[in-house]
Amino acid sequence: MFLETSVLLGIHLAGFALWTGFLIGFLLLGTSAIRLLRACVVVMPMTLLSGWALAFVQFGAPGSWFWAVNAMQTAGLAMAVVLLVAVFGALMLLRDAEATRDPEAVATATRRLTRLVGVDIGLAVLILGFALAGRYG
Ligand code: HEM
Repeated sequence: MFLETSVLLGIHLAGFALWTGFLIGFLLLGTSAIRLLRACVVVMPMTLLSGWALAFVQFGAPGSWFWAVNAMQTAGLAMAVVLLVAVFGALMLLRDAEATRDPEAVATATRRLTRLVGVDIGLAVLILGFALAGRYG
């Protein structure tokens, strides 16, 4: 039980660090670092699945999860949706804009993608707040 929890928490925290780190890396490096966003799509299910496994192993059925886990789950799912909209929506629109060679359209599409990534980072910070409030609050 202790080993299971430690391994799952390790995977979960690695997922958190990679997902958030790649998002911040993308903001710093710009649209040339699209690979970082694609890597987030791989890390995302790992983070969510380890979160659910951790919650089941530690606290049992969803009805008995405490508020911070429920809040983390809700914000985590929102974070996943925003990431998918960024990668499969905004990124595609950026590609279309690049194909038109219209600098204004490219700038608008880049801004839209950057904003979504910023929102995802904001959600990660919120989740960190829930995690810390749940543990030490
Ligand atoms: C399906 C969604 C999720 C569930 C069910 C979930 C569940 C959990 C659980 C049960 C813990 C251990 C809490 C404790 O023992 O005090 C935890 C810890 C943590 N989770 Fe999540 N999580 C989810 C998504 C996420 C996401 C998306 C992130 C960030 C990207 C995240 C970041 C963290 C962090 C930083 C901790 C460490 C808290 C600590 O141990 O002090 N979680 N999570």
